[in-house]
Amino acid sequence: MQDDERDILGVMDSMDTAVSPLLSLQDLRKSYGAIEAARGVSFDIFPNEVVAMVGDNGAGKSTIVKMLSGVVKPDGGQLFWQGKPFHPSGPDAVRDAGIETMFQDLALVNDVDAPGNLFMGQEPMKRWLGFLPILDRKKMRLETERLLDQIKIKLQSVDRPVRLMSGGQRQAIAIARILLSAKAQLMIMDEPTAALGIQEQAKVLNVIRNLHAQGLSILVISHNLEHVFSIANRIVVVQGGRIAASVATDEVSQQDVVQLIMGGRLQ
Ligand SMILES: Nc1ncnc2c1ncn2[C@@H]1O[C@H](COP(=O)(O)OP(=O)(O)OP(=O)(O)O)[C@@H](O)[C@H]1O
Ligand SMILES: [Mg+2]
Repeated sequence: MQDDERDILGVMDSMDTAVSPLLSLQDLRKSYGAIEAARGVSFDIFPNEVVAMVGDNGAGKSTIVKMLSGVVKPDGGQLFWQGKPFHPSGPDAVRDAGIETMFQDLALVNDVDAPGNLFMGQEPMKRWLGFLPILDRKKMRLETERLLDQIKIKLQSVDRPVRLMSGGQRQAIAIARILLSAKAQLMIMDEPTAALGIQEQAKVLNVIRNLHAQGLSILVISHNLEHVFSIANRIVVVQGGRIAASVATDEVSQQDVVQLIMGGRLQ
């Protein structure tokens, strides 16, 4: 076979296997009073892709996350999940579909321990004396330890209320909680490393790499471009409630991305 024939077949091959987006955002809009936090946001997240969303404070990143997670209803625009129109009624519907979100403010319950936080609202029950339903604490504890082990994070004790834990430990619990969902195909993380020490940041980045290796897609928001460049396949730049750019990580420099965040263009 001639080289050019092989080239043509190669192109046809890649056309055949063209993947469709896992999640597609089309022209999403959201205003808070006079503030237009999202002014027509469109981008795609593909299967097994790590997309980093970057942009200045107030650019609209968390607003986008809240619309994707069903916490905030868009004023306009469309979502498509696995190619079908998606109008989630709220956070539970989004979770049921296979999208898990870790919010910027972690939303753990302070006075409850790690297993209690992990299983909140989905506690395993067992029967006491054969009939009385009670919490299966042992199962919760073992499962918590297994999940924390899976993301290679050790807590001295899982029995302490989370208010006594460090930021990194709390983060670990929030991550373990999203791992509990066997259905998850897309994980959304709003600044998962922002409040952490260097070692803990490295662990969270490894968790993201592990999830990616397991075939999941991840949308992660970060102000740390080194982190972004070490984990993301693609970078989406948000500016003034719009998507200013979507670039493959290996085709740009950190300087290019800084430029885009500040409203410039690539040279
Ligand atoms: N609940 C709200 N009520 C009123 N205005 C809001 C609300 N949430 C966000 N905003 C405004 O919408 C805009 C976008 O905010 P958003 O939180 O999405 O930004 P962000 O990109 O996540 O910023 P940061 O990097 O600081 O987290 C800002 O001007 C913000 O003040
Ligand atoms: Mg934010």
